[in-house]
Amino acid sequence: MLDIKVTKTETPKQKPKKGEPLGFGKIFTDHMFIMDYTNGKGWHDARIEPFHNLSLSPAAMVFHYGQEMFEGLKAYVGKDGGIYTFRPDMNAKRTNNTNKRLCIPELPEEYFIEAIKALVTVEKDWVPADEGTSLYIRPFIIATDEYLGVKPSDTYKFMVILSPSGAYYESGINPVGIWIEDEYVRAVKGGMGFAKTGGNYACSLAGQVKAHDDGYSQVLWLDGVERKYIEEVGAMNIFFKINGKIVTPELSGSILPGVTRDSVITLCKSWGMEVEERKISIDEVAKAYKEGKLEEVFGTGTAAVISPVGKLRWQDDVMVINDNKIGEISQKIYDTVTGIQLGKKEDIFGWRYKISD
Ligand code: COI
Repeated sequence: MLDIKVTKTETPKQKPKKGEPLGFGKIFTDHMFIMDYTNGKGWHDARIEPFHNLSLSPAAMVFHYGQEMFEGLKAYVGKDGGIYTFRPDMNAKRTNNTNKRLCIPELPEEYFIEAIKALVTVEKDWVPADEGTSLYIRPFIIATDEYLGVKPSDTYKFMVILSPSGAYYESGINPVGIWIEDEYVRAVKGGMGFAKTGGNYACSLAGQVKAHDDGYSQVLWLDGVERKYIEEVGAMNIFFKINGKIVTPELSGSILPGVTRDSVITLCKSWGMEVEERKISIDEVAKAYKEGKLEEVFGTGTAAVISPVGKLRWQDDVMVINDNKIGEISQKIYDTVTGIQLGKKEDIFGWRYKISD
């Protein structure tokens, strides 16, 4: 059990009012969690402090070589008024898969979960209750050695910050337009595409800017070698419903193993649907579209939840999916996932995790 020292703020901020638009990741709560790592001593000095700016050497390694990782979870007000999160054990495990790839020391899973539980409990009055809102939880680790040689740092900070948020996309549950990128790539096998680290997101920006300039919300990445197979969207994993079957790219090492992705696969299988995790090429998607078999496309992610895709732009063609409307299965998955998260539907898989009453 972590011994967490709590120092409360003397100047609490005004919380957003009921019904006030929150946006995503723009507002931060009164407190943050911090814990340090020193080689030879391990993780130490767990504390909750007033939310504050950091003081770091400009030579801190994270600024130069990008040795950092992050995670994303959400806390919700349940139907019973308690505060819950969703499958935090998956995020704790993924943290260490990322850490291993980036030579960041292992963070015991129980530290990850206890830190979140303690901080969200302190901030429980910040968890918004309006429909479509939640308290976004952002755990992250940075390398802090003051050194300019390239090597794994000997010191780190693990921190958690919280942001009451609404939908990730301004369009909410309305379908988004996606640009299939044919110039840049996001990741290759053997690289760090499976890891949740800032570099993957930095690498996605040039494609995203191009897509935005053309009126699309996000980029769908193709594999970095053949530039043929569908990978992921960056902020979400991608699913296709083709001729009644659900198809999603397999976890090949270059895409993020999403918690929502895993939950959607489990749910669809439990409903008796055929789900295929396999390579799927852009040509297969375009062919299915031409033949009228591409029934639904949707993205999944913690921030994005379930995000229907209404338009897919591939080179000179635009595929309009399901008349640019949310499909039946996308809606059912959205209702079920959010229903379980909020305690409105039976949690048959034991995915909800109680943080506090
Ligand atoms: C999340 O879904 O939690 C993520 O970390 C994606 C991020 C780009 C918002």
